[in-house]
Amino acid sequence: MARFEIEQLIEACRSAVAGTDAERAVRELVTEACADPAAMATAFGEPEKCGPRTLFRAPDLTVLDFSWAPWMCFKPHNHNMWSVVGIYAGREDNVFWRRTESTIEAAGARSLGTGDVTVLGKDIIHSVVNPLGKLTRAIHVYGGDFFAPERPRSEWDPETLAERPWDMEHTQRMFAEAEARARQ
Ligand SMILES: [Fe+2]
Repeated sequence: MARFEIEQLIEACRSAVAGTDAERAVRELVTEACADPAAMATAFGEPEKCGPRTLFRAPDLTVLDFSWAPWMCFKPHNHNMWSVVGIYAGREDNVFWRRTESTIEAAGARSLGTGDVTVLGKDIIHSVVNPLGKLTRAIHVYGGDFFAPERPRSEWDPETLAERPWDMEHTQRMFAEAEARARQ
């Protein structure tokens, strides 16, 4: 891709998930795109609101343009499908968690800056912080339907770390509240 085109990336991801080793192929596509983060920022433009914007959704592929509100902390959750994350503006600090007998414990961390790309395995549990006083922008590609996963997704209460079913309404509220706080 000489110049970043959203439609071209989506088409290439659709071809990738139809082939073998989709994760690796999608990682290469996102890496290629994130080599020019300024072009991605231009192509995506300013978001209307914080949160995920769905660019493509199918049973085997979801492509989201993600906008993290300034200083937003996002609860631990899993995806139950592989994903590739590419940052094209700002920074995303990830904490990775592992299950214990009764709950989860922090097991590692990775800070992703502009241009960084990472693959998250299907069983990963992570929480995300935007450590900056401005939006962090990222493209997230999932190897399934993010909004209707085959295996139901979990989230963990940020204070007690108790597991509970993924709550999309609560998630939307978190984004709206973080956005409102940042505007104050
Ligand atoms: Fe996630």
